Amino acid sequence: MTDHGGGSGRVIGVLEAILLVGGKGTRLRPLTISAPKPMLPVAGRPVTAHQIARAAEGGVSRVILGTSYRADVFSDYFGNGAEFGVDLRCVVEEVPLGTGGAIRNVADSLESGPDDPVLVFNGDVLTGLDIPALVDAWRDADAAVALYLTRVSDPRAFGLVPTDDNGRVTAFLEKPQTPEEIVTDQINAGCYVFRRSLIDKIPAGRPVSVERETFPGLLAVGEKVIGVVDPGYWLDLGTPLAFVQGSRDLVSGTAPSPLVPEPGACMIMFDARVDPSAAVTGGSVVGVGCAVAAGARVDGSVLFDGAEVGEGALIVDSVIGRNARIGSDVRLDGVVVGDGAQIATGNELAHGARVFPDAELAPTSLRFSSDQT
Ligand code: GTP
Repeated sequence: MTDHGGGSGRVIGVLEAILLVGGKGTRLRPLTISAPKPMLPVAGRPVTAHQIARAAEGGVSRVILGTSYRADVFSDYFGNGAEFGVDLRCVVEEVPLGTGGAIRNVADSLESGPDDPVLVFNGDVLTGLDIPALVDAWRDADAAVALYLTRVSDPRAFGLVPTDDNGRVTAFLEKPQTPEEIVTDQINAGCYVFRRSLIDKIPAGRPVSVERETFPGLLAVGEKVIGVVDPGYWLDLGTPLAFVQGSRDLVSGTAPSPLVPEPGACMIMFDARVDPSAAVTGGSVVGVGCAVAAGARVDGSVLFDGAEVGEGALIVDSVIGRNARIGSDVRLDGVVVGDGAQIATGNELAHGARVFPDAELAPTSLRFSSDQT
């Protein structure tokens, strides 16, 4: 056995990973109108790039992207995976097949043998998962599937995965609402190790949910499914607030990524201009070719490439789309601004507001402050 040096484990030979990147990312609209969610930049690189880099560090040598929505964007960016030291290919679904259907759809591209482990990652999570340890747990337990679990304080938006004293999964409970349904704080963290032969058994050519159909089906026929709780970093990037948090955490080093070798207070990308009197703080990213004018403050936010922030503007916990223009003295807090939108001087938008791509907000002298609303 050969230790690959990427963690605690002892993965050997070719290890394949499937990344599920075909979702529409509706919760992140309007950012996902022009780019698929996994291709949105966090800490200056697409979410998928951070995932592939971590997977490679964890011993993965072949990556298959299960794409559907905006499939071309992935192949254009990643090519054959050489930048990441992996052999990469993209498989396209003509119609979205759901998480299980997408896994089945790439089966013909797998090279693993029937009893080999195959990793599957949801394309919208940031993790500090010890990948080799998960594969080792799968192997040591001789399990059909090993699921990466994380503990959260409010599990209502997630799939609960209770386990017995031996780590065997006893049920899959999707998005519980009542206190009686919340039987554990362990949730499905969006990464699995499958015995390859089980992937071939997922029904082909129709939508399948791995969470609602495949996993409960495996339990029903008595297959051994184990859960492995990893205490490391975990974040689902599904919502705008989570998205900016993920980017901040990568910039500051709270979330690990080989693509951010030197964490810091902020990240100013190539060709960006930040006036010396402006402040960029809280793990913010100022993208390629952006401009931040005198006296502006950008805190805990992400400016996509080419965005401009005017004099004296205040941008907090917000995402500013590509080439968007934010006028002088604008205040944004917890806002998503679509690509190419223009917000003229004096506007003030707060939590949850979303400005659609290319929209224009006229100048205003109206002022709202949080203690007046
Ligand atoms: P929301 O619409 O905001 O819920 O986001 P989403 O479309 O990404 O859905 P969800 O967060 O449930 O998806 C989990 C992961 O599976 C994401 O990485 C998606 O890209 C991926 N995914 C979801 N549905 C499909 C599908 O039909 N095909 C493929 N290939 N991937 C999918």
